[in-house]
Order: sequence, then structure tokens, then C-alpha cells
Amino acid sequence: MKDIQNEIEDLRDKIRYHGHRYYVLDDPVISDAEYDRLFLRLSELEEKHPELATPDSPTRRIGAGPQESFLEVVHTLPMLSLENAFSDRDIRDFEARIKGLAGDDSVFDYTVEPKIDGLAVELVYEKGILSVASTRGDGFTGEDVTHNVRTIMTIPLSLTKPAGNIPVPELLEVRGEVYMEKGAFEKLNRSRVNEGLPAFANPRNAAAGSLRQLDPRVTAKRPMKMFCYGAGDVRGARFSTQQELMSLLQQLGLRVNEHFKVCGDIREAMEYCHYLEEIRSQFPYEIDGAVIKVNQVSVQARLGSKSRSPRWALAYKFRPNQETTRILRIDVQVGRTGALTPVAHLEPVEIGGVLVKRATLHNQDEIRKKDIRELDTVIVQRAGDVIPEVVKAIKEKRNGSEMIFTMPSLCPVCGTGVVKRQGEAVLRCPNPNCPAQVRGAFRHFVSKGAMDIDGLGDRIITQLIEKGLVNEVADLYSLSTEDILKLDKTGEKSAGNLINAIRKSRKTTFARFIYALGIRHVGEYIAGILADSFRDVEALEQATEEDLLKIGQIGPQIAESIVSWFSDEFNRRQVKRLTDAGVEFESTAPRQGSSVEGRVFVITGTLSSMKRSEAGDLIIKSGGRLAAQVSGSTDYLVAGESPGSKLEKARALDISILNEDEFIKLLRKERE
Ligand code: IVH
Repeated sequence: MKDIQNEIEDLRDKIRYHGHRYYVLDDPVISDAEYDRLFLRLSELEEKHPELATPDSPTRRIGAGPQESFLEVVHTLPMLSLENAFSDRDIRDFEARIKGLAGDDSVFDYTVEPKIDGLAVELVYEKGILSVASTRGDGFTGEDVTHNVRTIMTIPLSLTKPAGNIPVPELLEVRGEVYMEKGAFEKLNRSRVNEGLPAFANPRNAAAGSLRQLDPRVTAKRPMKMFCYGAGDVRGARFSTQQELMSLLQQLGLRVNEHFKVCGDIREAMEYCHYLEEIRSQFPYEIDGAVIKVNQVSVQARLGSKSRSPRWALAYKFRPNQETTRILRIDVQVGRTGALTPVAHLEPVEIGGVLVKRATLHNQDEIRKKDIRELDTVIVQRAGDVIPEVVKAIKEKRNGSEMIFTMPSLCPVCGTGVVKRQGEAVLRCPNPNCPAQVRGAFRHFVSKGAMDIDGLGDRIITQLIEKGLVNEVADLYSLSTEDILKLDKTGEKSAGNLINAIRKSRKTTFARFIYALGIRHVGEYIAGILADSFRDVEALEQATEEDLLKIGQIGPQIAESIVSWFSDEFNRRQVKRLTDAGVEFESTAPRQGSSVEGRVFVITGTLSSMKRSEAGDLIIKSGGRLAAQVSGSTDYLVAGESPGSKLEKARALDISILNEDEFIKLLRKERE
């Protein structure tokens, strides 16, 4: 029996350890299958020996069946709210206020952390075991959501004993935010819509709805997470700053946000708030601001609280990235690949400092799903650099004048019947001579990453096409100065410059050339890989799907698209005409004084076009070196989405930081 008890305890320790590495640290050291085996073994043993079961066993996350209602929980210390700041001035006023109250002799610094857009929850750990979890409620009394909180894998059922002689506190009331990641939220909504259930309006509502489920089995299926950022009553632990508290929470196995930063003065705090606002769209979860706190607990105590919020903390609210406006009309744009995109023309509205007049509606399926109509009042979102989109219609504001929109069955530009490819949501104009597609192809061909022809803007392209001076991109290379002079507002000098730029563009690289062809799914990065893998255009032209699939990172969709592009007579003639016109490629041998060879790279965050391991392979292949940690000898930090603390360290050490595009360009340049 003793042996079994030992095995059970050993399994629990292992599962807790590996669960913490997986869910909290995001850094597993065993495979999922191995974890599942440990879990299964423990479940079997506990089933056979119910007398050895304990409430904090990792198998006991979903213990209870549905409840009738929620019990009330009175918070030992009230869960306060935060005062909001909307400008730098508000932040400076905050500083002036607390400096005045704290007295001239007090020395303190600040901490800044993201303000997570979820819902506040308090966890109570008694002797290290999770006993009660409650919502904030009105700040004094909340609801008992213990059963549901136990299903959240980032919340430990028992605390980890910290290293050294730090004990697990006798009592720890820890506070934080429970939230749902954006990806999980979208997935949940998709499946709800499929089941005919109403979609949640935003991740916060989804998290709140999920936490307030009477049946924990439902909550268990909703992927929620928690970040801890504060404490209520604590006995048996000491911390004199917010920074120490965060470190203690982390050591106890609780999850804290990695973008937490200590700032020496209010200026630095303010700058960090702006930085968080700038990178806000890169977070996998919603943040609606940054929280500035006085770091020193003694100063916090001296400042005290007002009735609803502490005087020592401030929420700097980001400018909203969503606004309400009205759709004036919807029209359809045809892109380079013939894709028809419905575009909403809006009553102009300022979002995050930019005047937005148009927003994409993606495709017919999206319009139908969201039931968006012309003249609807809608919520428009502008996240980072992406094209603004219509998020939803506010149906309550309808007055009957709204009109249902349906996509045309004919291309609005050339009148050809549109088609829908299997497995695609978009409608396409199948006519390769459609003026919209031709214009798009020209625009792409001359763009920076492609043939990079300076001075060939939209106005000139449109005129060249309209006047019949060019029909295909290869025609550009037969243009004369006289042709250009036929265009409106074009003088001798600019015509000469343009012809020169066109001529000069013939000397290019194989990668740019492939990219310029505008093959679907072949972006700059894939073009670079193709250029590396094929001797010349003829070789690429003759490649079969099988040949292409042998090259790492080229999947079936890309391979199919390339083969089908080259099987088109028109396209092959285009390529021939371009090479006949004198387009030639510089050698692709690695250059001297390489910016990759021998350089040390660290990769952090998620890259959108490849896995981190693939990026690592590319670096090694190009002669670079990889390191796991940022240090003084790091040359570049490649920062993907949600980059984490490495980014801050690299900034602090003044190391070159590359975003994904810059990284790809650097590798490509290396090959050119
Ligand atoms: S501290 C006494 N830190 O924002 C200080 N709150 O508007 C209490 N929140 O109710 C809160 N992220 O739900 C703090 N890093 C963070 C936060 C945070 C999100 C929420 C919390 C609070 C609300 C106040």
C-alpha cells in the first residue's frame, strides 16, 4: 500500500511539474503522449484506491456536476477597480498627485503591465491548496466559481514550493484576470454558429459567460487562461514591492504576464505604455490598456485608496481600435487574382488616430454569417496595419431601410460570369484579361519587392492600359519616351526618367522576377526559396508538383498553383517575352561581408509564414548561428508575434531587432 501511495504521489508531482511547464511556462519537456500516459496511470490508481484520492490531485479538475446556483463569497479585502487615464497629461497628473501625497522624501519607482481584457478573479490558497475562487462581483461580494476555475489548466490546484528557504504561504489570496485568447474565441464562436447558438460579442464576454456556467463540464471545454497580478490577504510571505510579489507568484507556480516592467520614472512608464499600445495587436489576447502601479508596497500603503480605486495605481486606456459608424453602401473590388472583395463605404470615422472610410467585408459567406446590410450601423475594427474590417452590425439600430447585399454573379469590371473554386469562400472573375486583373498584375509587377520600377504609379498604369499602350506586363519593356509623352501631365524629363527606370529594372534577381510574375501563393519568401532551388526559369517552368514538394516549405497548394500557372500558354509566353526583352538575373552567390554568415540569431515569438524551427534551419543554411538566449554576443533578434521578454532584453542591449518581413528580406538579400 505504501508503495502505491508513493507511486501516486510521485505521479502527481510529475504531472504537476509537466503541467506547469506546458500550461504556465509554455515550455514542455516531455511529449503530450508521455504526459497522457502519466495521467492515465494516476487516474487508474486513484480509481482502484479511492481512499488515496485528494482534492488537489491533477485528476480532480472536473470533479463536480452541475450546480443549482452560485454561492456568494465575501472578499476579505475589497477588490477595487482602477482609475482611468486617457492621455499623457492624465498620467503626469497622476504622478503629481501621488508625489504630493507621498511627500518629498519618499523614493519609489513604477511598474507597468498590460491591462488584460478579461474578468477579475480571486483565488484563495490555504496552506498551498486552492480552496475558493470567486469573481469580483461588486468588489465586496462575488460569486463562488471554484468548480469552474479548477478546470482552467493555467491555474494550479496546489502551489509549488519555491526554491531556497521560501515557504509556501499559510494563506494567499491572489488576484488576476481570467481571459480567452483571440484564436480560441474565434474557434468557439465558429462552432457555436454551426450549432445554431448565438456568437459571443467579444473574448471578454465569452470568458465571462464560460466562467459563469453552472456546469463545470461546459467550462472545461472553453479554453481559458489566467494571469495573476495582485494579492488580497497574505499570511506567511513577504514582499516589499509589486515586482517581488510578481516574482513570488511566479515561483509559486502561478502565471504572470511576461510584459511586466519596472520603470524608474513616470516618463519611462509612459513610454512603455505607448510601446504596449503599439504592439497591442500582436498579443494573442485582448489588452485594452496598461496598468501603472507604484512599485513599493510601503508607498502604496501611505497613499491608500479612495472608495473604489487605489490612489497608487492607474489604468492607461488605449485608444479604442473599434468604432461605431454606418455603412453608406457596399461595392465590390476585383483584385489581381480576380478575387471579388465586398467593400463597405463608411461614414468616415476616426479609429486610433486614422480616418477610416472603407472597410473590408471579406466575402459573401462573412456578410451572410454576420448579417451585415447596406445602411446598417456597424462596429468597425482597425487592428495594427491590417485593412479595417466590419466586425458586426448593430441590429437594434435598424429602422427598416437597410438592404441585404448579395454578391454579383458577373464581374463588376468586365462582366464575365464569376466562379467559385472548390473549398474557397471567395468568388473570382475567371477572365485573365479583366482590366481590374490586368491593372492589379501591373501594380504587382512594378512594386518594390518585385521589379521595383520607380515612378510607375497607379495613375500612369491606368492611362497606359486605357490608351492601349500596354496590354501585358512585358509590353512595358517596349515603351518609348514618345509613348509616355502621350499621357496626361507628363513632361520630357519625367518621361525620360520613367523609361530609364523601366530599363534599369531589367537587371534584377531571380527571386524578384519569380515574385513579380504574381503566381498565387508565391510571396516574396517562397519566391526566394524557388530561386534557390532552380537553376533558371526553364527549370522552374518544367518542374512537376512532385519536384516542388521535395523542396522544404512548399506545400501542395503552392506546388499546384505554380504548376497550373506555368501550364497556361499566356503565362509561358509572358515569361519568354520578358527574358527576350532583356530581363536578366544577377548572380545569386553569397556576397562578401555577409550580414548572416557567422552572425548570431535569437528567435522569439510566433512567425506567421514558418515555424521557428524552419526559421532556424534557414539561418543555419545561410551560415548564421542560433542561440537560445539574448546576450551581448547576439547580433539579431528575430521577433514574431507575442515576442516576450527576449524583446525587451534585446532592446536594452541595443541589439538589432528584425520583424518577420525584415528577417525574410535579410535572408533573401543574402541569397541575391
Ligand atoms: S490591478 C487594486 N492589474 O482591470 C488594483 N488590474 O479597471 C486592482 N485588470 O478590475 C487591479 N489587467 O479586472 C490590475 N494588470 C492588471 C490588470 C487589471 C486587467 C482589470 C481588473 C480590474 C480592472 C480595473
